[in-house]
Amino acid sequence: MKDKKYIRIGMIGTGLMGRIHTNGYKRLADFWPEYEYRPILQACCSRRAEKAEAFMKDWGYESFETDWKKIIARDDIDAVDICTPNDMHAEIAIAAAEAGKMILCEKPLARTVEEAKGMLDAVEKAGVKNTVWYNYRRIPAVTLAKQIVASGKLGKIFHYRANFLQDWTINPELPQGGDALWRLDVAAAGSGVTGDLLAHCIDTAMWINGGIKDVSAMTETFIKERVHQKTGEKQAVGIDDACTFQCHFDNGSLGLFEATRYARGHKALYTFEINGEHASIRWDLHDLTRLEYFDHDDEGQVRGWRSIHVTDGDHPYMDRWWIPGTSIGYEHSFIHQVADFFHSLETGESCHPTFRDAFETQKVCEAVINSANERAWKDTGVEWVEKY
Ligand SMILES: NC(=O)c1ccc[n+]([C@@H]2O[C@H](COP(=O)([O-])OP(=O)(O)OC[C@H]3O[C@@H](n4cnc5c(N)ncnc54)[C@H](O)[C@@H]3O)[C@@H](O)[C@H]2O)c1
Repeated sequence: MKDKKYIRIGMIGTGLMGRIHTNGYKRLADFWPEYEYRPILQACCSRRAEKAEAFMKDWGYESFETDWKKIIARDDIDAVDICTPNDMHAEIAIAAAEAGKMILCEKPLARTVEEAKGMLDAVEKAGVKNTVWYNYRRIPAVTLAKQIVASGKLGKIFHYRANFLQDWTINPELPQGGDALWRLDVAAAGSGVTGDLLAHCIDTAMWINGGIKDVSAMTETFIKERVHQKTGEKQAVGIDDACTFQCHFDNGSLGLFEATRYARGHKALYTFEINGEHASIRWDLHDLTRLEYFDHDDEGQVRGWRSIHVTDGDHPYMDRWWIPGTSIGYEHSFIHQVADFFHSLETGESCHPTFRDAFETQKVCEAVINSANERAWKDTGVEWVEKY
């Protein structure tokens, strides 16, 4: 124990992501025992004392706060984890950077490019360690897809296709805003499916296939008015309920993306497919352990899509878990991000995606919204430099 270095976490927000990140911190010592750095669950923060206290007790935090500014002001917090709705990311992250804290921020980095730029400048000026929870990169089958593309097995890439389909907002009686439904309030969320769902697809796509150069998008808001939780009045809905866009990647391939919360029958169907000169791969969140792979170089009579069960010891991250052939799940992508973040403290390298990487994703999201609003192609201005 003595040789370990401890990072005291201040968790802000105790909802879905607050829980799943905390689970990640709790697993690190068990599955990566040799790592030099370990988290301590120092403080959690939620606005209502009874909720914050219950979270503290249930998840094993040492203390709680009801004002996030107190977390930032505390000398016994080394890293701030931002798990609040999107409208709070910038203010908290900038304050945390100015206080010299490490920052682990949920996605999307911000509501707008302007907000994201302020955050990026703040962490770079302060020189604090930072990462953004685009967790899908760390599902072993997705990491394997990245490795296969990087190895050149697909050859020249022609197409990148991604969908993220849900169906939970079809009911017109669903209000907007408030604790549970902030995603439907544009002031809190910044955008609808573009920032919530497509941001994930864009992050994965640029990580695997390089920068997105320009976009042509279409959005729709199917339910135009909803009662706002704060006012009790019917108000115009400002988010995009559905969005599709096409794009050019820097490498010359074409991209096609779709996200919606109006695809009856789909809860969280994130899929992508990449078609190259020699081979193709595809992946599906509902069957997240598998990676489908088609290799044109296979002998003709047995050529076909193969389904790789990404559970063997030489698959990404899988040497840490159980035995070959047994699966892990969604929560493990966050555990892997915790592990990579803590390992990066030891190596001194960045834990990608950093604020800079997420800033590039933000540029694509904003270009998508602008393109849809103006019915025009938009350059993204992305400078994608991640090479790993
Ligand atoms: N990486 C992913 O796959 C993923 C998945 C879901 C959500 N997210 C992101 O995580 C963030 C949080 O989403 P969620 O699903 O956990 O939301 P949630 O509604 O479940 O939780 C939000 C939490 O923030 C707290 N909060 C709100 N205002 C606060 C304040 N002023 N001070 C302290 N706490 C406050 C709420 O009480 C709640 O506990 C969002 O940015 C969202 O986009 C990412």
